[in-house]
Amino acid sequence: MNKNEAWKRKIAYQIYPRSFNDANGDGIGDLKGITEKLDYLKELGIDYVWICPVYASPMDDGGYDISDYYSINPMFGTMEDMDELLAEAKKRNIKIIMDLVLNHCSDEHIWFQKALADPNCEEAEYFYFRNSENGAPNNWRSMFGGSAWEHVGNGRYYMHLFSKKQPDLNWENPKLCEKLYEMIRWWLDKGLGGFRIDAITHLKKEPTLSSLEPDGDDGMVACFGPTRNYPGIGDFLTELREQTFDRYDCITVAEAAGVPYEQLGEYIGENGYFSTLFDFSYSELYAYGHAWHTCKKAWEWPITWLRDKMFASQIETEKIGFGAVYFENHDYPRASEKFIPTEYQSDISQKMLGTLFFFLRGIPFIYQGEELGMTNTVFESIDDVDDISTKNHYGLALADGLTPEEAIKAVNRYSRDNGRIPFPWTSGANGGFSDVTPWMKPHPEFARFNAEDEAKDENSVLSYYKEMVKLRKSDEYVEALSVGSISPIMLDCDDVIAYTRTDGSKRVAVVCSFSPVDITVNTEIVGKKLLLANYKDATLPENGALALAPFEAIVFEI
Ligand code: NOJ
Ligand code: CA
Repeated sequence: MNKNEAWKRKIAYQIYPRSFNDANGDGIGDLKGITEKLDYLKELGIDYVWICPVYASPMDDGGYDISDYYSINPMFGTMEDMDELLAEAKKRNIKIIMDLVLNHCSDEHIWFQKALADPNCEEAEYFYFRNSENGAPNNWRSMFGGSAWEHVGNGRYYMHLFSKKQPDLNWENPKLCEKLYEMIRWWLDKGLGGFRIDAITHLKKEPTLSSLEPDGDDGMVACFGPTRNYPGIGDFLTELREQTFDRYDCITVAEAAGVPYEQLGEYIGENGYFSTLFDFSYSELYAYGHAWHTCKKAWEWPITWLRDKMFASQIETEKIGFGAVYFENHDYPRASEKFIPTEYQSDISQKMLGTLFFFLRGIPFIYQGEELGMTNTVFESIDDVDDISTKNHYGLALADGLTPEEAIKAVNRYSRDNGRIPFPWTSGANGGFSDVTPWMKPHPEFARFNAEDEAKDENSVLSYYKEMVKLRKSDEYVEALSVGSISPIMLDCDDVIAYTRTDGSKRVAVVCSFSPVDITVNTEIVGKKLLLANYKDATLPENGALALAPFEAIVFEI
């Protein structure tokens, strides 16, 4: 596994395959569709492409419920299509990162089917089955709501931390582990660039599986305490690394929620389990509250919250290793909805948000459509929604007495389906995504943001992203902007998030204003050279002050 190498100077892009590009005209994005668009990614300057799961799956949770790790879901194409994608990507120096789901599989996987049929078979030990006379074996709540246990008859239950169609795999069983390692090596042998690894901090469960003090009126308790980064998980993760990733030239990006900074070294330090990880501490500020309809809106909390958490994450990570940075992914609404009040959402504020995250210390992951400045979409009714967690929260809103109209409005804001709608390639029919009606409604405003028109417009968000990529990769600034150290600046101005990136004598400042009006920031910093800005007439700091227009972003050498 690759810990200290060139990947730190590279740029990654995340694809939600079902909604990226439909090559065969059935309304669903597919692998051939990705291959067709490799030149678009190349042109943008992308080096790594993470593709959300394309394995065989009943798609209960967008493919994170895998029924066969060795085959491709026909919806996305064939294994030949996958091999073609890998070969074509290689020609363009692009590496493919697959999604690796090891905490659970699908209830339609043959292992689970055998386990259901025969409680005494080997496969029954691959899962968490328990017998219980009086309801669920414990009071743990699943991540998607409701009990984490499903009854299969005769007092026999199995555990699922996510949906009931995602039975948890039992990593205490060495035979299961060996099967999974074999599968991982099989994929790496194909020449993958690496894996993004799903929900990996949940592999170890509190061994007695005991009920805990309830934390809600439902009598249940969130399953984080007994199943997230639980002591002993390190043994599993060390063996996983030794049996698989360590033997290949690949990178591993862990989805590792719940790792305290004191333990970061175990995960991504010199001998850590993974190359890098996603830290969620600053991207979920908006989602506090028991259900989406009771959550705060982005702009109802001070921007200093975001600043403090983001810098804490950056500074702690720099002490230990190298992070993976992002502002959007397939599990979130669009970033503008989280961080910018509706009336100020514009190309300017989109470029500002992009700048803020893109130059943080870590490998940047751009999420499809982010580079076009896509905003949230509009779901008219729950029938427009596919996502299981959105449906659950819609139900919670109805149960709290909201009307269907109020409930859909409330969940619209936070729904992860906002990021899962078809990618707008052109202003033509279906946004150029497909020749037929797509599986999800396209964004109503795709005429405003689409790849074809934005590529021709030098002021578009897409053109701005290309400039950001070029700057980060330029010979002159690549060290400072990738591995260079990070320090917060301008901390006495609450409307601004600003930092410097430093490598030796090269110093670059990144300043982002969240203020909707003109402001002036006092600063002793002297600007040497303007590198990038979201306003044409941006100026460098002068006489101890920096003037910033509304939502201005400016990058300059010091
Ligand atoms: C995290 C994935 O990103 C999300 O989409 C999925 O629902 C859960 N893990 C369960 O696999
Ligand atoms: Ca298709």
